[in-house]
Amino acid sequence: MDLYRLYQTRRSIRKFKREPIPEDDLEKILYAAQRAPTDATAQMYSILRVTDPELRKRIAHLSGDQEHIESAAEFFLLLADVWRLRRLVEHRGGRFGRWPRTAAHFAIVDAVLAGSALATMAEALGYGICWIGGVLNGIREISALVDLPEGVIPVAGLCVGVPDEDPAPRPRLPRALVVHENRYRAYTPEELDEAYAAMRPITRKGDWYRVLDRYFAEGGTMELREGPYQALAARKGFDPDLPAPLAEALTARGLEARSLGQLIEEAFRRGYRGVLFNQGAVWLEKETEAHRGEGATPGEALAKALLEAFPEEA
Ligand SMILES: Cc1cc2nc3c(=O)[nH]c(=O)nc-3n(C[C@H](O)[C@H](O)[C@H](O)COP(=O)(O)O)c2cc1C
Repeated sequence: MDLYRLYQTRRSIRKFKREPIPEDDLEKILYAAQRAPTDATAQMYSILRVTDPELRKRIAHLSGDQEHIESAAEFFLLLADVWRLRRLVEHRGGRFGRWPRTAAHFAIVDAVLAGSALATMAEALGYGICWIGGVLNGIREISALVDLPEGVIPVAGLCVGVPDEDPAPRPRLPRALVVHENRYRAYTPEELDEAYAAMRPITRKGDWYRVLDRYFAEGGTMELREGPYQALAARKGFDPDLPAPLAEALTARGLEARSLGQLIEEAFRRGYRGVLFNQGAVWLEKETEAHRGEGATPGEALAKALLEAFPEEA
């Protein structure tokens, strides 16, 4: 299909016929994913094809009971993945660098580009697709279910199958709000009203704010996702302050380490009156006790002091 026509007509599909995707189409779809551009040719992503119906069911439930995850012919988990890259570097005697934020950045970019190519090829072949950000609702459980190692986190899911519905394409924001020229410019209140007007058809009640409020305002879905996402990122080695094994060890003791700041807050919450940082060490203090942790970074030192301070869970 002509690509322009495809983008004119494409829409996400959430109802699928119980029909499989033939092998040769599946081959083309995965081929497209692998042909996507990738930073430094490093291919910092993996695609996890979920064929086990029980696993599909669990993921559908953990993603907010999204039925289309189960009914789609194919469901893929798109993973940001620097584990394989690390293995490749170490395989040749190299020492993998420490670049956790940048790793997250490029690995997510690579995963999205591969997913986007996969999705577009599937749509060009006449299949319907739906991205699933809902996997972040159960990111900890899903990551454990599919055995993700350090250096690998889920980015999104992707349903692909034969459409069993024909919804209208959804609107987008006015071009002028999305495409800037030379300088980023501020938005006028009138333009913001135009944005809401353009997006009005997206909800049954005709108010896009209802969607934005539910997801992005205080108390919304995104805030609920933030804590578990930070904790998983730390455990998988994507936090600049916290070494992955220590984040993992703290989680095993019932303290989900999300960030250095959160660990300091947690220490105060647990009754410590002072967290004293020195070069290469930290003291955790309260009236009758003090705990010391050493480490190359404040996060490492604090994580060790906290591990010493908190008794093992029974
Ligand atoms: C990163 C991402 C996550 C998404 N997560 C979900 C999801 O969890 N469930 C769902 O039904 N649709 C999901 N979608 C689909 C969007 O709702 C859809 O793309 C958007 O409403 C625009 O509609 P259209 O794709 O039909 O143009 C997601 C899309 C993206 C890009």
